[in-house]
Amino acid sequence: MPQHIKRLISVFAIFIVLFLVMRQVLKPSSFGKLGHFRADAIYENTLKPMHYTIADSCTKCHKSVRAEKDKGFHKRLKCEVCHGPGLKHSLFAEQFKGKELPDSLKLYKPGERKDCGVCHQKNAARIKIQFDTINTTMVHQIDLAEHNPPDLKANEPANCIDCHNPHQP
Ligand code: HEC
Ligand code: HEC
Ligand code: HEC
Ligand code: HEC
Repeated sequence: MPQHIKRLISVFAIFIVLFLVMRQVLKPSSFGKLGHFRADAIYENTLKPMHYTIADSCTKCHKSVRAEKDKGFHKRLKCEVCHGPGLKHSLFAEQFKGKELPDSLKLYKPGERKDCGVCHQKNAARIKIQFDTINTTMVHQIDLAEHNPPDLKANEPANCIDCHNPHQP
């Protein structure tokens, strides 16, 4: 066998042995129990705190908002899309009925122009299908700078919700 092939073989042998040793050392102990996964990952994920609740749980205490929303253009939006994660609020808010909620239970109220712009701002990257005619689930786009901008001279901030009811726009 030529000399240079012998050298190559020994180099390969060293790498293979190294690989086997490292694999033994680094492989997590629960790997392989449930197929090509780390079985402990399931348990570790159950320990993570939850933040969101099920879609319908807001209705229990806010029936009128839900009824209002169901009649308008925002009927398909889930409450938490705008108000943020509400699990803690849903579990503990009831005892503060008619009172001021503690800060830890307050939910975000997206009342600023930029909040509505997240979905409604004109954006060249969004699909350009004629609204209404082809796909009625497309979000209607406006230009935030041109659509009823705040009158700064009159010192009148015109937030979207001054004119549109967020639950029934
Ligand atoms: C167990 C009853 C309960 C559930 C479930 C519940 N809320 Fe509330 N919520 C309250 C109470 C009580 C208040 C305090 C004000 C009041 O008395 O209406 C409140 C207030 C709010 C406010 C106004 C806070 C403020 O600062 O003015 C928002 C927004 C809100 N809830 C959204 C939600 C959303 C979204 C959900 C679902 C993720 C939800 N709520 C689920 C009972 C509940
Ligand atoms: C498009 C975003 C959006 C969605 C979706 C939405 N909200 Fe709101 N919500 C708002 C905004 C903005 C306000 C603040 C209104 C204000 O300050 O006048 C608000 C205010 C509230 C309030 C305070 C009381 C009131 O009526 O002003 C409650 C309670 C509430 N929302 C519950 C809900 C629940 C329950 C749902 C789901 C059924 C929901 N919201 C869905 C944007 C939204
Ligand atoms: C999570 C995305 C989302 C957010 C945030 C959102 N909207 Fe909407 N909006 C929609 C969708 C979806 C529709 C239904 C499709 C449509 O009509 O454009 C809609 C419809 C509307 C319409 C009716 C458009 C029409 O066709 O005449 C108005 C007005 C409107 N929204 C105003 C607002 C205002 C004001 C806010 C801020 C409080 C807001 N939206 C926040 C998704 C959103
Ligand atoms: C001064 C009142 C006023 C303010 C502030 C306002 N709107 Fe409107 N908006 C209207 C009126 C009136 C219409 C319907 C007539 C029209 O198309 O202009 C409308 C229409 C819309 C439509 C439907 C699009 C269309 O061309 O018909 C959307 C979406 C919308 N508004 C979103 C918003 C958002 C998002 C904001 C905040 C950035 C906002 N509006 C601020 C009065 C207002």
